[in-house]
Formats: sequence, C-alpha cells, structure tokens
Amino acid sequence: MRKHLAGALGLAALAAGSLLHPYEATAKMSRQDFGKTPDGAAVSLYTLTNQHGMEARIMTYGGIVVSLKTPDRAGKLADVVLGHDHLDGYFKNSPYFGALIGRYGNRIGGARFSLNGHEYKLAKNDGENSLHGGTRGFDKRVWGAKEAGPNTLELTYLSKDGEEGYPGNLSVTVRYTLTDANELRIDYTATTDKETVVNLTNHTYFNLAGAGEGDILQHQLTLNADRFLPVDKGLIPTGELRPVQGTPFDFRKATAIGARIGQNDEQLKLGRGYDHCWVLNPGPQGMAVAAEVHEAKSGLILQVLTTEPAIQFYTGNFLDGTIAGKGGKMYQQRYAFCLETEHYPDSPNKPSFPTTSLKPGQTYRTTTVYKFSAK
Ligand code: GLA
Repeated sequence: MRKHLAGALGLAALAAGSLLHPYEATAKMSRQDFGKTPDGAAVSLYTLTNQHGMEARIMTYGGIVVSLKTPDRAGKLADVVLGHDHLDGYFKNSPYFGALIGRYGNRIGGARFSLNGHEYKLAKNDGENSLHGGTRGFDKRVWGAKEAGPNTLELTYLSKDGEEGYPGNLSVTVRYTLTDANELRIDYTATTDKETVVNLTNHTYFNLAGAGEGDILQHQLTLNADRFLPVDKGLIPTGELRPVQGTPFDFRKATAIGARIGQNDEQLKLGRGYDHCWVLNPGPQGMAVAAEVHEAKSGLILQVLTTEPAIQFYTGNFLDGTIAGKGGKMYQQRYAFCLETEHYPDSPNKPSFPTTSLKPGQTYRTTTVYKFSAK
C-alpha cells in the first residue's frame, strides 16, 4: 500500500519537476519469504527501490532477478524481464531466467578441460558440451544474503572443491545495487584455494516493451564490437575472431534485431538466430558501453556497461511458447533478448582466448551495469 501510494505520488512529483516527493532519499530494501526449494531450503525475495520508484526484485535462489520495473517515457512502470510469479515456476520451467550463472557461463566444449596437466570432467548438459556451470550450476543454488547498504543486496555462495567437476573451493560474492541513476549494477568477486576457471554472468531475459508483450525484433540494438566468435554446430567457438563488417553480426550502428535475423547465413542458422559472443572494443578505462537497446513504443533505452571483454547476445531462440510466465503470458520464440557479459565461451580449451583461470591469492573481480533511461 505504502509502496503503491509512494510510487504514484513520487512519479506525479517527478513529472511536476518537484524534488519534494516521497522517494527523495528513500532508496530502500525489504525482504519477504518466497517459499522453499524441493529440498526444503527457505528462499527470500528482496525488493530494492530507488528514489524514482524503479524497483528490482531479486531472490536468493539462483540470485535471480525476478522482476525489474523501470519508468518508461510516460513515467509508467513496466516490468521488462521475463520470469515467473511464483518460486515453483523457476524449478519447473526456467531456461536460466534472470539467474546468476557459474562457475562457467556459456559452454565448455566436450565438457572437459585441463589445468596444470590435470583433466577435469564436467556434466554434459548440452549435447556433448557443458553449459552454464553444469547440471546444478549457481542458478540452482540458494545464496546467502545480507543488506550491504540501503540499495545493495550482497549474495554469497561457496562452491565446494569438486562441485560439478570444477577444482577448488570457490567463494563467490555478488552485489546487486539499484542506483538512483536507474542502474542495476552487479559486482562479482571470487577467490579460490586451488587453481580453477571462472566466468560469471547474469542471464536476464529483457523485453523493453514489457515481459510477454510480443517479440523483440523491432528493438534497435547497438553493439560496440568489431568482431564476433563464429561457432560450430554445438555452439562452441571455432577459435576465429571474425570481423562483423559485411555480416548480419554488424551492430556497430543501431539496427533492428530482426532486420537480418532470417538471412541465409551459416552462423545465424547454427545459432537459430543470434546466440553468439561478441568481442567488445576496449573502452577508455576498463568500463565500456558494450551495448545499447532502444524500444520505440515505451521509449526505453537499456545501456550495458561492463569490465568484461565480451558479451553473449541471445535472442530467445529456444523459447517455444510452452512456458507460461508472469501473469500467465506465454513466452514465444524471440520474446526476449539476453546480453550476458562474460569472457569468451570455451576459453579453458582455447589458449589463444583471454584466460579464465583463477589462482589462489588472486581475486576475480568484474562489474556490469544495466542502465535504464527513456526518451
Ligand atoms: C545462453 C546460450 C544459449 C542458451 C541459453 C539458455 O544464452 O548461449 O545457447 O543455452 O543460454 O537457453
């Protein structure tokens, strides 16, 4: 009730240009019970709100972004991420909706890699390959949680030595911050007691016209990348860094996602659309604008900034209309896009790719910002 009233008043005040609205300096967080996992672990749902009424709901199961409501051009709050209303939906039917992905985001070819002369075998959960950390990756774990500030939720997870086949006890901290600049900022850190590989990301499915409100083919995308990684039929990078110039993978100028997605292109066919990793052009100081998406009807703009060297752009190719999401809406193919900031897939098997190894004494540290505005 309070939230509802404050939201309405806050937006009215914002529209009137007044600073004296109820959200003034009232960034805040609350917690509620969200149910239990099948093995009985309690799951909490945190609601973070900023002074413009933007709201992020994040749960401790999978560190999943359950909803993200941001003001559109008219000041109306729209939920722009796919997911479920209830916890159960995430156990039954969720292709990583909103989830934290680890220990290794995207694929490791042949579900194996070698480190220091020792071969590690992983679960083959995607044909012959290992995808998104294996059978029970970080997206299917209950994370510890604490409020680390008025609008910062800190999640922690200890991935034990040998879990899903990976070496080393990996201690992971992910901080979600909802800033008053309408950004959802994600800071990842990790340390290990034995050399391992790490590639953490977030797998939120966005639709800037609103979750379940049609496909994303008219969204305009810009990617700050001169090259992308072609894949084989198992979606493992071949090792080539291919220039985007002259291909349907060139998003250096804003282009509708759907403009070329149906072209007779070998890579688009292999991916059933876009499901590839783009190599980001280096930014001036680490944190670069990697991507920008604009949706004309809502006026919403999403910018993705990251310290990571690459981004996986995925167009919901495997959604097939069989999942009923929030509000009972059916999620059809291309009803969302993902922009997963990351290191290159299969890096542990590709010595020419930037390394994803983490040694004892080192700290893995990356930041990604999803920034919203409207025009
Ligand atoms: C990533 C992968 C896709 C697919 C989705 C989840 O984006 O690259 O191939 O697995 O996750 O369905």
